[in-house]
Amino acid sequence: MFSRFKKSDGPVKPTALGQVGSGNAAARAPAAAVKPVATTRPLPTAAAPVRPAAEVAAMDKEKKRKERLSDLKVELHKRLLDNLNLAALEHATEANLKVEIATIVSEGLEEMAVSLNKEDRGILNQELYDEVMGLGPLEPLLKDDTVNDILVNGPNRIFIERGGKLVLTDITFKDERHLLRIIDKIVSAVGRRVDESNPYVDARLADGSRFNAMVPPVAVDGSLVSIRKFKKDKLAIGDLVKFGAFTEEMAAYLQAAVSCRLNIIVSGGTGSGKTTTLNALSSFIDNTERVLTIEDTAELQLQQVHVGRMESRPANVEGKGAVTQRDCLRNALRMRPDRIIVGETRGEEVIDMLQAMNTGHDGSMTTIHANSARDGISRLENMVAMAGIEMPLKAVRAQIASAVNLIVQASRLQDGSRRMVSVTEITGMEGEVISMQEVFRYERLGVEPNGKIIGRFNATGVRSHYSERFRQWGYDLPASIYEPII
Ligand SMILES: Nc1ncnc2c1ncn2[C@@H]1O[C@H](COP(=O)(O)OP(=O)(O)OP(=O)(O)O)[C@@H](O)[C@H]1O
Ligand SMILES: [Mg+2]
Repeated sequence: MFSRFKKSDGPVKPTALGQVGSGNAAARAPAAAVKPVATTRPLPTAAAPVRPAAEVAAMDKEKKRKERLSDLKVELHKRLLDNLNLAALEHATEANLKVEIATIVSEGLEEMAVSLNKEDRGILNQELYDEVMGLGPLEPLLKDDTVNDILVNGPNRIFIERGGKLVLTDITFKDERHLLRIIDKIVSAVGRRVDESNPYVDARLADGSRFNAMVPPVAVDGSLVSIRKFKKDKLAIGDLVKFGAFTEEMAAYLQAAVSCRLNIIVSGGTGSGKTTTLNALSSFIDNTERVLTIEDTAELQLQQVHVGRMESRPANVEGKGAVTQRDCLRNALRMRPDRIIVGETRGEEVIDMLQAMNTGHDGSMTTIHANSARDGISRLENMVAMAGIEMPLKAVRAQIASAVNLIVQASRLQDGSRRMVSVTEITGMEGEVISMQEVFRYERLGVEPNGKIIGRFNATGVRSHYSERFRQWGYDLPASIYEPII
């Protein structure tokens, strides 16, 4: 009766879950309900509004129904695990497996004397498929290309970031155990583990998305999961101009800066678009150059022919085998690179990065986590100090000033839009201080009633410190791009 994916043994016991009604789409089991709810929440008031009794009863009924469907799913999932031949799953096609699951579900429902309509049955089948093959309730969110980030705060609260805004969804896990099982599935697939003694973990999903989980008791209210989704098609310069991240004039300036091999740092907060900007800037690198990229999680997608990609590696379960960004960078210097791109400089690799920028690998680029160009410089100074290098501050600054030519500041504004809010050139040292000049900036002019920020990009009126270099390299930018709009 069962096909090749199903174990031949193991009859299943009927349970007393009883009849589950159907028909109300809103009450369907959680994973199918991808629709986010409650984008804006009403302000809390002293007295909660009194709901009509009929409404309360309906809500109660729906809640119960949802719970019963969820119990049903758990029971059927158990049966699936008992009955499916897990070893054969690897070679199963999606279609075959779906048929198989549908068969086992039908039999299970029959044995439990539960009848479901076609729609609910379809949803249940899909959810069970996601449980067996994918990441359960997270699966529809992972497949939804409009979702950028998925953030789980315990089993009952799953947030998503869509269009720069965080939104609470009505998707939930059954309970903490369910959530832990999915976390375990992800981390064990990459040979890591997470438990009380090792309560947080970083991993990469099969599609390249970055995954981090922290489990109780360190995570107080249930496991915390953050998934930063991998975008297959990175935004190109043209897209960023179209989305208002910067202007065409700024793009022309940036093209000159990258082509003339300025050393560039993209600075910004979490999720401000640093990696996207770095990736877009890299498109200006000439095809004849040998570019080496070093990242903690390989995200960059360079279009050049001659690209060598490296990814650092955390220590294994025994605490061995770590390969840091610094290790990669040191090795990269022996690999005859024309340019080196470090995904994010956050630690001791800063020393080697500055040295690389100072010693013939100009045109190198990286990102740092900082709120302004000035802040970015302090971050670099701190990183050098933290790396245990005993050097007078002035010497550190001189090193930074001669290594870094340009800092572009990415920012995610309150309305969710991402913009290059400042383009700042490092011009040298004045006494003990690094001197810099802002060439372009984003000016905020106001806020629309719907919260959208009104603003414009403007030149500051300062001509680029590198104009002569641009000209020599054949990038004769018109003086007008540096003229401010009054
Ligand atoms: N200008 C933009 N317009 C619209 N979406 C953007 C823009 N820039 C970046 N994004 C999107 O924002 C998300 C976060 O971008 P990105 O990963 O580049 O940020 P980040 O600063 O590198 O984040 P992290 O701090 O996690 O490294 C991505 O989904 C990206 O596609
Ligand atoms: Mg990034």
